[in-house]
Amino acid sequence: MDGNGRWASARGRPRTFGHIKGSRVAKKIITACSRRGLSHLTLYAFSAENWTRPEAEVSFLMLLLRRYLKRETENLVRENIRFDVIGDLAKVPEDIVHAIEYARTKTAVCTGLHLNFAIGYGSRQEILQAVRNISEKIISGELNTNHLTEKILSQEMQTYPTPDPDFIIRTSGEQRLSNFLLWQAAYSEFYFCDTLWPDFTESDLDLAFAQYLKRERRFGAVSISENAHH
Ligand code: FPP
Repeated sequence: MDGNGRWASARGRPRTFGHIKGSRVAKKIITACSRRGLSHLTLYAFSAENWTRPEAEVSFLMLLLRRYLKRETENLVRENIRFDVIGDLAKVPEDIVHAIEYARTKTAVCTGLHLNFAIGYGSRQEILQAVRNISEKIISGELNTNHLTEKILSQEMQTYPTPDPDFIIRTSGEQRLSNFLLWQAAYSEFYFCDTLWPDFTESDLDLAFAQYLKRERRFGAVSISENAHH
């Protein structure tokens, strides 16, 4: 959800103005994904590196998060959306952590879209923690090094048991992952668009999905049609 700051600057407004619009767009896109029957959606709302932004901007983003949880938890239940979080919440204000727990508990029975907010999330940190956990299991004798598999490592990721993402969208013209789901994105399809996040609409989402559906995913194998000739 990139480009909030630039969107606001272009209008001569403070970056926070862009975040306000950005959170409204997030709400709209969540509903759109839910109505289109998606099983999982992970939003990069706040990265581990975002803590280094000016304190005023950080608290403003926390305020938006607080407000979102307060206003939206009932809606999520109504829309059958299950709310979850990945990331390190150690530096997140306590009342927000409680609001997250509340939203998680309240929506635990929801069977529709599984919505994940990445908050204080960094993929390298996640991988490092997974390596630490596995090391401890090896040292304690619970796990044999030769029995360590991709599946076992996947199970140590914060995303578990969410499946690897099929499709990753980044707005605002930047073409990089910025520490997002590095392990999980091994075979994801990427979509980069110039639209700034506050301008991103449901039809932009549909355009992206239409692109995705045209792509052929081979996962390193030969294509199905080519295979048929041999
Ligand atoms: C990137 O734009 C966006 C963020 C760092 C925050 C994303 C957060 C939201 C959309 C609002 C919070 C969401 C909810 C639902 C409460 P940027 O600030 O890096 O923009 P720039 O690249 O133009 O500077």
